[in-house]
Amino acid sequence: MDLGLKGRTALVTAASRGFGRAVALQLAAEGASVAICARGESELSEAAEDVRAAGQEAYGGAGGEVVTRAMDVTDGEAVAGFVADLEKDWGGIDLLLVNAGGPPAGTFAELDLDQWEAAYRLTLESAVRLCRLVMPGMMARRWGRIVQITSVSVLQPVENLLLSSVMRPAVHALTRNLALEGGPCGVTVNSVAPGFHTTSAVERLITKKIELTGCTRQDVLDDWTAEIPLGRLGEPEELAALVLFLMSARAGYITGQCLVSDGGWVKGTF
Ligand SMILES: NC(=O)c1ccc[n+]([C@@H]2O[C@H](COP(=O)([O-])OP(=O)(O)OC[C@H]3O[C@@H](n4cnc5c(N)ncnc54)[C@H](OP(=O)(O)O)[C@@H]3O)[C@@H](O)[C@H]2O)c1
Repeated sequence: MDLGLKGRTALVTAASRGFGRAVALQLAAEGASVAICARGESELSEAAEDVRAAGQEAYGGAGGEVVTRAMDVTDGEAVAGFVADLEKDWGGIDLLLVNAGGPPAGTFAELDLDQWEAAYRLTLESAVRLCRLVMPGMMARRWGRIVQITSVSVLQPVENLLLSSVMRPAVHALTRNLALEGGPCGVTVNSVAPGFHTTSAVERLITKKIELTGCTRQDVLDDWTAEIPLGRLGEPEELAALVLFLMSARAGYITGQCLVSDGGWVKGTF
């Protein structure tokens, strides 16, 4: 299936590993030019090499461009500078994946107000800033795709993930509202809500659960998979495939939605 992404320009934030990296690899393999960022410079450079190779392999050495910037998505000046440089060099950003590291795990009693504020800045404010910077250009060019990575915590609280469970529904509310404003200008805005996938973020959750309960890694995995009808954790590539479809020319009539990739973990009817 041709996703119609060849020649498109994409900004994928928080992309040196995990979901962001998987999305960047698949976009490059579809012939898009891809800009990626993360805080750690060496892991970002390694990811960029892999992304470049994915594009070259798929297009016989003539893949799209790969651009990197080591920066924190909560640093407003750095983010604005990166977006401005990309718009100048590329003439615009067609595809935006809004992604960041997750806020730390913790119960209500453990979390102080500074942690609440940091979670707001990382999860909601960074998403608002990115959309404010990128969406006007998409609307002016009358085409664009924005996908925000949230979590199943949008739909159902996740044990020990109070900050995520409070902040992520607000990110999806942003999606829902931006879809109304973007629609008349050909810009779709959607959220994806991953359940448990095999990334380093999940390894941190496992460590936290072991600390809290004294159980083994295998106990944690057994507990989780017992609640997942498909009986396993997801792979980042599986979530990335969903993101790519939402970014594609094929998904032109889907907007304002929250698509779940969780192996059936959420048990609500809607
Ligand atoms: N994996 C899951 O099962 C799962 C489920 C639901 C939701 N999520 C959410 O999905 C998002 C991505 O998770 P993941 O599993 O891909 O995590 P991951 O494997 O830990 O990767 C996180 C990526 O984000 C970058 N990053 C972290 N904080 C950043 C910041 N402030 N500014 C710029 N880059 C930053 C990291 O690089 P640096 O550290 O070098 O910056 C890394 O490249 C997170 O919000 C996570 O909570 C994950």
